[in-house]
Amino acid sequence: MQDATETLTAALRYAVLAPSSHNSQPWSFRLNGNEVELWADRTRSLPVVDPHDRELLISCGAALHHLRVALAAAGTDIEVERLPEPVLPDFLARVTVRGVAIPDPAAIRLRDAMARRHTTRRPFDRRSAPLNLIHRLQGEPRAGRRAVGDRRPRSRPAPAPDRARRPAAGRQSTAAS
Ligand SMILES: Cc1cc2nc3c(=O)[nH]c(=O)nc-3n(C[C@H](O)[C@H](O)[C@H](O)COP(=O)(O)O)c2cc1C
Repeated sequence: MQDATETLTAALRYAVLAPSSHNSQPWSFRLNGNEVELWADRTRSLPVVDPHDRELLISCGAALHHLRVALAAAGTDIEVERLPEPVLPDFLARVTVRGVAIPDPAAIRLRDAMARRHTTRRPFDRRSAPLNLIHRLQGEPRAGRRAVGDRRPRSRPAPAPDRARRPAAGRQSTAAS
């Protein structure tokens, strides 16, 4: 139990490095033995730019992903339950340490990048990225994400009727945060 708590504590140091809308960091983690809970912290919501808390939830998802990558890098076998208590919509996930696993080399690289990653708002360079770099990125394991430069159409669920009618007001501009 002590080991699991220490492992989770170390992984949480990476989780809180996740990007978040306007750097709001709208998450709250509760550590209890071999479990950690992720809660949405709506006191950090941004009603003007994010009236439906969409970006708040994406930010929490990024933090959960950081946590999972850090645990995979540490060689930890975990179980992730999303929305474990349906009556508590702010209780977004529970991560439970089940045991040990072989540390994942791809996760180690990603975890190490987390400490260096940051958002840049500098102007884009006009030059194209070198082809060998694009090919290298395409070869990276992506854990369910799409390949760089993959232009196949995304399969998207049809929008629910109320979402289709919702005005696009309050969206964060590209360089706003
Ligand atoms: C859901 C979401 C939306 C974001 N939208 C923008 C955006 O529109 N423009 C922008 O420049 N940065 C955007 N960011 C980046 C955040 O502003 C950035 O992650 C935050 O300021 C923390 O800085 P860091 O990424 O360097 O840790 C967004 C991040 C997230 C998670």
